[in-house]
Amino acid sequence: MSDDLKKQAAKAAMQEVRSGMRIGLGTGSTAKHFVDYLGAEVANGFECLCVPTSEATAAQARSLNIPLTTLDEIDALDVTVDGADEIDSNQVLIKGGGGALLREKIVAAASAKMVVIADTSKIVDQLGAFPLPIEVNKFGLGATTNLVKKIMNDFKAQGDLVLRAGSDGQPFETDGGHFILDASFGRISDAKALSSALLEVPGVVQHGLFINLCAAAYLASPEGVVTMGE
Ligand code: A5P
Repeated sequence: MSDDLKKQAAKAAMQEVRSGMRIGLGTGSTAKHFVDYLGAEVANGFECLCVPTSEATAAQARSLNIPLTTLDEIDALDVTVDGADEIDSNQVLIKGGGGALLREKIVAAASAKMVVIADTSKIVDQLGAFPLPIEVNKFGLGATTNLVKKIMNDFKAQGDLVLRAGSDGQPFETDGGHFILDASFGRISDAKALSSALLEVPGVVQHGLFINLCAAAYLASPEGVVTMGE
């Protein structure tokens, strides 16, 4: 998606925040624009307390003097604004293309409202064309991989399971020190059942299906920004 559309979606989501709010900051190239807009407001006296969903977002927020806290210091957030890799008509998401899915899900679940920002190309009829990121413990990687492959088979996955590599060719490591398996399902017809099956695997830390978390979405197209949800 063009950077301009990402900016438009991020700017539209600024209407979700008010001075004094506790805000979750997403991760990724679209969320980065939202953090930039928020930083500009903070420079003008806007007050907020934010929880970042990754070390990268934390560094960006610090550079903009956005006040940060943790979910140990506060236990709830008013709103979280984050990107997505896919969104369906029920506002079920695939996230984790940037590898921050675990913190993103923890922060979204601690928020009264999660708002997605993306361009309309992220809207899908059926989830699954984007490989589902599955965060796994390093311990027992081979055994976990086998169990996930079995689930892919049960759910009639049309593609492979790949251990994500970083730019150095080594396995990509998340902020939590875990690995990511990218599972190409092709089509995910029952996201809830797949979520439950994956979470039953002991080595699976979390997966990138966000169900009943996204309350609203701002989706930018060349014709303007459309909203989904509230
Ligand atoms: C980060 O882990 C992801 O969940 C991102 O939010 C998602 O991949 C969208 O990223 P972009 O805004 O860069 O497309």
